[in-house]
Amino acid sequence: MHILVLGAAAGGGFPQWNAASEACMRARRGDPAARPATQASIAVSADGERWVVVNASPDLRQQIEASPPLWPRVPPRHSPISAVVLTNGDVDAVAGLLHLREGTPFAVYASPRTLAVLDRNPMFEVVDRRIVPRRPLPFDEPFELADAAGRLLGLEALAFPVPGKPPLWVEGEYGERLVTDAEEGDVVGLELRAGGRRVVYVGNLARIGARVKERLAGADVVFVDATLWRDDEMIRQGVGTKTGRRMGHVSVSGPGGVLEELADLPAGRRILIHINNTNPILLADSPERRIVEAAGFEVAFDGMEIAP
Ligand code: MLT
Ligand code: MN
Repeated sequence: MHILVLGAAAGGGFPQWNAASEACMRARRGDPAARPATQASIAVSADGERWVVVNASPDLRQQIEASPPLWPRVPPRHSPISAVVLTNGDVDAVAGLLHLREGTPFAVYASPRTLAVLDRNPMFEVVDRRIVPRRPLPFDEPFELADAAGRLLGLEALAFPVPGKPPLWVEGEYGERLVTDAEEGDVVGLELRAGGRRVVYVGNLARIGARVKERLAGADVVFVDATLWRDDEMIRQGVGTKTGRRMGHVSVSGPGGVLEELADLPAGRRILIHINNTNPILLADSPERRIVEAAGFEVAFDGMEIAP
């Protein structure tokens, strides 16, 4: 199994276009301890030839150009991207589909809820359904990922609903039902297996309960939501009014956070991803980075390659 981190940052990326924070300014100045990061996505392949992209970030075009395994190989048109799996319908997870609109086949997999929000947004029709089939992800049931023509990719997948919230851009319709603990398929975790290896991606996660831990346990690699260092981070930095919890994200530190809940997780590598530009773990010289590394977690970065 081959794994490539295409993007490590949360929505907005690092630096974010309108962020004048010290961290973002350091990233712009080329400070090596403040490495820029694009929006969260990983690519996984069983054979190194045909790839599955987990979440199509708005930075996908740039991510492809930065990743030689994803370059086209066969003139005049070709792509090693055989399938895209969407774990949620947020802009930072789906907007990149619009980059893949030039008539090259691949398959899109997403939960019925995420497919429904794509279906009603006509802009996504530029990704022609006759060429790019949209397939619902079954929940809690292993299945084989396939390309647009139905050829198997050698990757067994299992999607499981996790606590999360509907996409920001349809929140208004949910009203009181906007509960971040719901497990209704607005957000899924994704497990992929090949060659006896197992990777689990939960880049969006509102709460780490027993079910999530069960899914992560024993994996060779886990990618976990690290949007915020602390729940009130956006408020404290004066850049927002929402807590992490309100945004459907567990925090890295604090009660119920990633460090506390997954400290003893039996897993090969525990990698933090979907990191917001306000999260100090993005800075290689921060005390928070030292804390997560001392606890045995790794911080994802663009271009990180993993061969479990
Ligand atoms: C999130 O992960 O909370 C979203 O990416 C927010 C957004 O769409 O800006
Ligand atoms: Mn996001």
